[in-house]
Amino acid sequence: MKTLHKISDLRAELNALKNKNPELKIALVPTMGNLHDGHLKLMQQAKQSADIVVATIFVNRLQFGVGEDFDKYPRTLQADQQKLQSVSVDFLFAPDENELYPQPQNFYVLPDENLQGVLEGKTRPIHFRGVATVVLKLFNIVQPNCAFFGKKDYQQLLILKAMVQQFALPIEIFGVEIARADDGLALSSRNGYLSESERKIAPQLQQTLQQLRQQVLTTSEKNFANLVENSKNALQQQNSLWQVDYIKICDKHNLREIQNLENGVNTNDLIILAAAKLGNTRLIDNLEI
Ligand code: PAJ
Repeated sequence: MKTLHKISDLRAELNALKNKNPELKIALVPTMGNLHDGHLKLMQQAKQSADIVVATIFVNRLQFGVGEDFDKYPRTLQADQQKLQSVSVDFLFAPDENELYPQPQNFYVLPDENLQGVLEGKTRPIHFRGVATVVLKLFNIVQPNCAFFGKKDYQQLLILKAMVQQFALPIEIFGVEIARADDGLALSSRNGYLSESERKIAPQLQQTLQQLRQQVLTTSEKNFANLVENSKNALQQQNSLWQVDYIKICDKHNLREIQNLENGVNTNDLIILAAAKLGNTRLIDNLEI
């Protein structure tokens, strides 16, 4: 694997390969580093669909709000390089801020409010503008045939799919299933912020979503409001360290909140999305119904 820090170096490498083989398929897997098995699953799937896999590591200031964890976000380049090597990634692009944002970025990709203003976007208003802007920039730099994103960040995946469609980018977007620890906790770089005792409690979030899913599938109650409210309370009562930000049942194609099973709503189209703070750490998870 080659690690490159400059846009011009990466372009030169990729152009040379494409000149030799114009049919070459390139996959892009953007990350912020501190890689875990969830990230590596993305790399492996990318490797199966393309000739060349380009992983990127860049902690993108534009997607962090004031008071969020930009400064303390774990930066572990050496360990990440070894992990990427182990799954046969071809190129790691790891630019510094000056390379990606030589001037303060003042052009943005602004997703539609219905997609970006809900769920994560309610608590993190500039988050998806920052995500979409950096991902478009990475697309322009790498010009991949396909790109891989995790369903763990479901709203992000939907926004990026919409971006590609609406700007007619010739890039196929793949969504990869959530990788979980043995106890069910969705893998995340932010899990490293949890204390030992918090880590033991953390799977309760996923268990709560499983229970809610079961209730949606079995109850005769057509209105979701009570079910959702009960599941929030149930989680918070399990441990006082939990502070639920949201638990919502949404249409998995457009993230519109679904209040009840009337009007021909099909449970196959639903997804439960949740965010909750455990102590000081904000965790997100979701579960398709
Ligand atoms: P990051 O949080 O590092 O995640 C990189 C990719 O890994 C994302 O597509 C994310 O959904 C996926 N991922 C993380 N945890 C996962 C898990 N447990 N199972 C499956 N996939 C998982 O998401 C970002 O970085 C940034 O917003 C980025 C897209 C790189 C733009 O800066």
